[in-house]
Amino acid sequence: MITRTESKSIKLIPIKVESETVTEFSEQSHLEEALHRVQKTTDPRLKEVLEAFIKHMFAFVNDVKPSEKEWMAGIQFLTEVGQKCDNVRQEYILFSDTFGITMLVDHHNHKAVPGVTESSVLGPFYREGAPAYQNGESMCQDSAGDPVVIAGTVKDVQGKPIANAKLDVWQTAANGFYQVQDPLQSDFNLSGVYHTDDDGHFEVRTVKPVSYTVPDDGPVGRLLNATGRHAYRPAHVHFVISADNYKPVVTQLFTDDDAYLRSDAVFGVKDSLVIHYTPEDKGYKVSYDFGLKSAD
Ligand code: BEZ
Ligand code: FE
Repeated sequence: MITRTESKSIKLIPIKVESETVTEFSEQSHLEEALHRVQKTTDPRLKEVLEAFIKHMFAFVNDVKPSEKEWMAGIQFLTEVGQKCDNVRQEYILFSDTFGITMLVDHHNHKAVPGVTESSVLGPFYREGAPAYQNGESMCQDSAGDPVVIAGTVKDVQGKPIANAKLDVWQTAANGFYQVQDPLQSDFNLSGVYHTDDDGHFEVRTVKPVSYTVPDDGPVGRLLNATGRHAYRPAHVHFVISADNYKPVVTQLFTDDDAYLRSDAVFGVKDSLVIHYTPEDKGYKVSYDFGLKSAD
């Protein structure tokens, strides 16, 4: 311990600092310095991502030239997005979905391959552990709605049927809510797991889906509103199709007569995923074949 008397005797020895030239601040020199600061990043992919992030963010700020008040409004928005998240609500994903970023990431990860079903967003309402149904059984436990049979074959890229492929299926009820959003629905209502038979055939019995809004009571909803956009998704049924030795496909089938088909709030619609509900005596019938490619 240094006493008061001892501390008085401590002499200050000047430390020799090597002189450094401080570059004059400019947009270019500042960018170069910010990039220089991540050069020691050992993970090469992280380094690549950080460099791109810095370059794009600098370009964004140089382009927009936000006032300090605007910059704080942006920070405040992102803070609210984070604060809105909990174990069931993911406002960041919603932000990414509603500005088309999720579908762009999806595009770079799942390039279109002839014979393979195109992908779409998973969405936040998938829940593992849905009950298994036999082909032709209904996954609708307590919903109103028009009965539908969605039937077809799961095939490989050569068109050969795949036996025992798994179809995880879920959708909203007639009130526009998924079961996970609505405590009044029975557990796993309108969610089910089906498997193809030896001929690769499946038959899902359900009700015709309806269009609904993505959660719009948070900061992302406010932003949609500010841009004059609606929060609707066109009616659809979600599918995850998988089979041993094949690459799983996450997708959705959209109803062709839906008013929001061309303005889906999350940009999830692709032409090949739009289906027609053919009226029948007791409801509708849909025929659709899925395609999977082998896992590399
Ligand atoms: C959905 O389809 O369930 C969904 C997708 C993205 C955001 C919100 C909902
Ligand atoms: Fe959905």
